[in-house]
Amino acid sequence: MSIIEIRSLAKTFGKIQAVRGIDLTISRGEIFGLLGPNGAGKTTTIGMLCTIIRPTSGSGLIAGFDIAKHPTQVRQKVGIVFQDPTLDTILTGRENLQLHARLYGIPRRERKAWIEEMLALVDLRDRADDLTKTYSGGMRRRLELARGLLHRPAVLFLDEPTLGLDPQTRARTWEYIRKMVQKEETTVVLTTHYMEEAQAMCDRIGIIDAGKIIALDTPDNMVDALGGDIVAVRAPAPPVEALGALPYVSAVQCAGETVEITMKSAPLHLAEVLSLIPDVASVEMRKPTLNDVFIKLTGRDIRNETAENGGGWVETIARHRQKGT
Ligand SMILES: Nc1ncnc2c1ncn2[C@@H]1O[C@H](COP(=O)(O)OP(=O)(O)OP(=O)(O)O)[C@@H](O)[C@H]1O
Ligand SMILES: [Mg+2]
Repeated sequence: MSIIEIRSLAKTFGKIQAVRGIDLTISRGEIFGLLGPNGAGKTTTIGMLCTIIRPTSGSGLIAGFDIAKHPTQVRQKVGIVFQDPTLDTILTGRENLQLHARLYGIPRRERKAWIEEMLALVDLRDRADDLTKTYSGGMRRRLELARGLLHRPAVLFLDEPTLGLDPQTRARTWEYIRKMVQKEETTVVLTTHYMEEAQAMCDRIGIIDAGKIIALDTPDNMVDALGGDIVAVRAPAPPVEALGALPYVSAVQCAGETVEITMKSAPLHLAEVLSLIPDVASVEMRKPTLNDVFIKLTGRDIRNETAENGGGWVETIARHRQKGT
């Protein structure tokens, strides 16, 4: 059953076309990742779905309510953890949650229990009565997560929920999110720049670039579609054209002294590939990751290192396509 339905959703700020017509259906209980480089339109899309930003055109339904016509009902259905921190730092952790509970009309008799439950979920019970300005960054992020979940939203939007957290806290934050999804069958729409986490967490991923969704699938299918294994060979003068012409090779990318070759069944073909490359210094074989998918599709690394890597990869692929290989 779909809980989010977006049709031709678009937003223009003056001359900037931040979102250029997005179509997307998300099912109940799904963890959906919206990935894209800086400025791709992720926060704007989430803002429109949470009714904070008014769309220029198109429509969106959340749990059957229209984001333009029924914003109040939509707001009751969604929780959000913003990209930028929004806690009231002169209140304690518990007071922040109490304020939110009142704003969202959580019945008085339920409030205390729900707040305690959330504080326990994010391991903040022992610091709940300290001012949040005395919290560490990770603790604040956890409290924001608890606040986003407090009113038991049907859909939770998480815009970079783990940005700036240490790896251990990131892992635990994902654990909280997963627990909550299982418990409440919450639908989660998240953005993140941590590709490994998106790959591990998300049922499906939409890659957004320049305001449009350019790929939509499960992480596994996306990675499989890259075509096999990646073999990285360090050598001073790899014969890029000859390698690209091999029938089982789908892409060749050069970065400095290393050439990365994407190919089917690498163990089977490795000997032939290496026989073509003079003066091999080292060879490494790995499975492609979501980051490789991202680089291929957007032409740049997720962290917006637009540099040589991404560009080179895409150009090489384009060249091979032209050749019909
Ligand atoms: N209020 C605004 N006024 C003008 N332009 C805006 C506004 N909000 C966003 N934009 C522009 O819209 C585009 C998309 O921005 P958005 O914040 O949605 O990107 P994002 O994908 O969330 O990026 P990031 O990964 O950096 O968070 C950018 O070019 C941005 O400058
Ligand atoms: Mg953003």
